[in-house]
Amino acid sequence: CGIVAYVGDRTAYPILIKGLQRLEYRGYDSAGIALLNGQTNVYKCKGKVKDLQALSKDKEISGTVGMGHTRWATHGEPSDHNAHPHRSMNGKFFVVHNGIIENYTHLKKELSNRGYKFQSETDTEVLANLIENIYLEKSVSAELAVRLALTKVVGAYGLVISCEDEPGMLIAARKGSPLVVGVGEHEYFLASDATPIVEYTDQVMYLNDEEVAVITRDGLDLKNLENDSKTPDFKKITLSIDHIDKGDYEHFMLKEIHEQPMSIRDTFRGRVAMDESKIFLGGVLDVMPQLIKAKRIIIVACGTSWHAGLVGEYLFEKYGRIPVEVEYASEFRYRDPIIQEDDLVIAISQSGETADTLAAIRKVRETGATILGICNVAGSSIARETDAGVYTHAGIEIGVASTKAFTSQITVLTMMALLLGSKRQVLPASEYKELIHELIQVPSKIEEILKQESEIEKIAAVYKDVTNALYMGRGLLFPVALEGALKLKEISYIHAEGYPAAEMKHGPIALIDENMPVFALAANDQSYEKMVSNIQEVKARKGKVIAIATKGDKGIRKMADHVIEIPECHEAVSPLLAVVPLQILSYHIAVMRGCNVDQPRNLAKSVTVE
Ligand code: G6P
Repeated sequence: CGIVAYVGDRTAYPILIKGLQRLEYRGYDSAGIALLNGQTNVYKCKGKVKDLQALSKDKEISGTVGMGHTRWATHGEPSDHNAHPHRSMNGKFFVVHNGIIENYTHLKKELSNRGYKFQSETDTEVLANLIENIYLEKSVSAELAVRLALTKVVGAYGLVISCEDEPGMLIAARKGSPLVVGVGEHEYFLASDATPIVEYTDQVMYLNDEEVAVITRDGLDLKNLENDSKTPDFKKITLSIDHIDKGDYEHFMLKEIHEQPMSIRDTFRGRVAMDESKIFLGGVLDVMPQLIKAKRIIIVACGTSWHAGLVGEYLFEKYGRIPVEVEYASEFRYRDPIIQEDDLVIAISQSGETADTLAAIRKVRETGATILGICNVAGSSIARETDAGVYTHAGIEIGVASTKAFTSQITVLTMMALLLGSKRQVLPASEYKELIHELIQVPSKIEEILKQESEIEKIAAVYKDVTNALYMGRGLLFPVALEGALKLKEISYIHAEGYPAAEMKHGPIALIDENMPVFALAANDQSYEKMVSNIQEVKARKGKVIAIATKGDKGIRKMADHVIEIPECHEAVSPLLAVVPLQILSYHIAVMRGCNVDQPRNLAKSVTVE
């Protein structure tokens, strides 16, 4: 979900609406705002920010203090009354909330016993009423009521709260779900990430867990739940408005696909020696001894980041000669996993806020193993809670379906694997150098792939109406098959599955008929010949084959229905190239099907609930 809030001298409404539009990628099943102006006006509805704008048209929208929310439903279906902000029963408090209050049923029961009635099915309304109940019964300040209420809460929250009796003030609190505060001249901006703030100020501060900020136009008072004062630490951020603008592209996803040559360069910039002989990863220097002597690497992640982790597994094992396990963060944390002190755990997360991944590393924390983070969002929770790490520096990613963050994650994993191989003396210097050189060539090779977009679009037109699709790859390209299938599912709602090509004959091949497209990843690598056989097996059953093959490969051209060429490359970097045509294909298929590419149904960019 997304939160935005403002307190200052300007009219809050346009700031909130624009902020919500910027945050819409975090959730978009309902939206709402509260404007404080003597009394509080709340407008909220199921649907997108544009529906909220339509709803608030011709309504009273004055006020220089306000808050807004765009939701990804957890408790209660998307509906007008489940939309935030939520009002406490007696109208004293208004709350917008990200996260989940886990003990809300218990709290709700207690409040019901005290006569509280509820308008929605949300956990947030329970919290609003809990705060109000403490405020009225104990006759304490709004701020103390908030802190007391939060000590009773189990779960995660990023909160902005207003109190009808103190109209110039907002209270913000955080545990688990991020909140950023931006400061200007007699004004403050609050948001769940910096995107709505950067056009007004570059001075921001991230709230820490269990911190509460009381904010008026003239100042910010920061404390923890126990009332100890904290010093706000505002820092300059580098995110600029260009990064969050679509520019000439029709969608963020397309922009981000095209940014990959640049984002990958940004990922390795300053980390590779000029003569391409060495890799420096400043973020892991402190833990280098643990890295070198680690007996095993465990990678935890979700979604696309998990696919990057699978690529990492191949790379670490092959070039670092170290055993690797890749785990879904959500499964790992509930499995009573065996973690030894000399294990190295790597959490991969674009947002750095994914609740399952965060919970997984908290579990590891208890074991004493070293934890590294590979995150895209600087200052994010995972980045802060890991012992060391490497930022991907892909730039902000807005499209819900991850593209450039994925290739940057793989770039980091490649650098780590090579560095490890070299430090552990299992990767000869000449091969180390050759592989670095290969990595440096990737951006210009992706540029070549991007030039084929119109060809790829034609192939998309042929398959846009299919109901199912299979993706197959071997070795390093197996995770790319999974990622290709995920991209198609996410944005075009076509059922798609990825398989290791050799597994096709153990089941999935039963699905093949003349209507089944099979995307075959057939780069020029050690499993090429085997892949050719797998393609023939599909063709023999009348399946349609769309092959991603190395430039100039005539053999594949004879067999496949369509071929998309990628430049010749070392197999170590083949995932970085092979995924790009699949991203472009999914994008165009989704556009042709009339789907909302940047905001696919039911999904959210950053899932801060478990
Ligand atoms: C969500 C997004 C996916 C993403 C996953 C993990 O489901 O829609 O695109 O891969 O979360 O996110 P993370 O930020 O941890 O990489």
